[in-house]
Amino acid sequence: MSVQFPEGFLWGGAVAANQCEGAYNEDGKGWSTQDVAPQGIKGPITEVPTEDNMKLVGIDFYHRYKEDIKLFAEMGFKVFRTSIAWSRIFPNGDELEPNEKGLQFYDDLFDECHKYGIEPLVTISHYETPLHLSKHYNGWVNRELVGFYERYSRTLFTRYKGKVKYWLTFNEINSILHEPFMSGGIYTPKDKLSKQNLYQAIHHELVASALAVKIGHEIDPEAKIGCMILSMPTYPLTPNPDDVIAAMQTEHLNYFFGDVHARGIYPGYMKRYFREHGIEIHMEPGDAEILKHTVDFISFSYYVSICETGDDSRRNQTEGNLFSGAANPYLEASEWGWQIDPQGLRYVLNMFYDRYQKPLFIVENGLGAKDVLITGEDGVPTVNDDYRIKYLNDHLVQVGEAIEDGIEVMGYTSWGCIDLVSASTAELSKRYGFIYVDRHDDNTGTLERYRKKSFYWYKDVIATNGQSLQR
Ligand code: BG6
Repeated sequence: MSVQFPEGFLWGGAVAANQCEGAYNEDGKGWSTQDVAPQGIKGPITEVPTEDNMKLVGIDFYHRYKEDIKLFAEMGFKVFRTSIAWSRIFPNGDELEPNEKGLQFYDDLFDECHKYGIEPLVTISHYETPLHLSKHYNGWVNRELVGFYERYSRTLFTRYKGKVKYWLTFNEINSILHEPFMSGGIYTPKDKLSKQNLYQAIHHELVASALAVKIGHEIDPEAKIGCMILSMPTYPLTPNPDDVIAAMQTEHLNYFFGDVHARGIYPGYMKRYFREHGIEIHMEPGDAEILKHTVDFISFSYYVSICETGDDSRRNQTEGNLFSGAANPYLEASEWGWQIDPQGLRYVLNMFYDRYQKPLFIVENGLGAKDVLITGEDGVPTVNDDYRIKYLNDHLVQVGEAIEDGIEVMGYTSWGCIDLVSASTAELSKRYGFIYVDRHDDNTGTLERYRKKSFYWYKDVIATNGQSLQR
């Protein structure tokens, strides 16, 4: 039996501004938190941007987007997920007026997508708070960020009304739990950040996200606005009830974000967590009402599952995108130690749908791998990335299974559809793309683009609406 996807399924790919655009100081752009993080999310922060920071050039998407979108169109993309660099629009974040050149760039980019019938899916904030907001306000710990984000998102909804239908408020909003600087622009070092300030910052982001939903709908009733969660299905390491409860509690800390976005209230388990950790969330009058503006759909990234245990000595044995847990003995891992679990995607789709009964959108999934460029039969360079094809095929088959389970899945955007700079390690050698970019970790390369084998494979998947997938 072949895999069935609904008519109108939104096939596509995803990137983020800071990982591909480059042009970090052009056309009035201010510095963002990414511009001072040359070694990626877990590395040290510099005072000013330094030349070893691969993101300053990225893959030069800022200048080459026309060529890249043409390639996406050749694959048949229906949707293209990208983010807007906040510091292109408000260079410091706290200005009253936006930077016209920044707005114009995205106007042109979205027009280019529409030229090929590609619908933009836009993340308002993807790991790049304007540096000024981080340094001078301590990022989302400060309530003022709500107002700055409100102005920023209002500017975007107004400007791109009719051009952008699908919006995501914050990329992987729950990642602030582990990476407060990159995710929440919080300048206080992670080991000095109190749980009180962390959860107050989270409250501010949740209010800002709900405000964006409210404003977005007021400005453009056609807009569909979603949250974006880093999904990480958490299995109990053993049937020991201690492990089951430990897994449930880890899931709660992540579900919290989806629960507020989808249900509009703080869940009971978090009230207990706050009580037991001495956290008191300061709510402004009206916050509870704002939170009731729930999202139209739930989007999420999916790369790995983890195991959880009540036994501390067995935890933290495997890598993951930002979160780590106990290793699953049944799974193999990528070259970066991320455990590969296609069925986890079916599982997480079921879990989200059972919980929220809202449409779901898989906006990130893919394999970061070291590719070898070879000369193809036609003499043009290419990559035989059968490993990537297998990874994506197996995950998409599980999306098909979830659709069979009755889940409403809006679409799928594979992460890093064109090679880009890794978020966690800032390497370009961790490649996800269907399109190879000739750029290397030592800052060399021509930036030429080449189609990989997976390019033609994905084109076929889209053209057949998933019928070509191999169970
Ligand atoms: C997600 C992020 O966590 O994972 C992306 O939203 C990131 O920005 C992706 O690139 C893959 O992670 P990495 O570290 O391999 O780039």
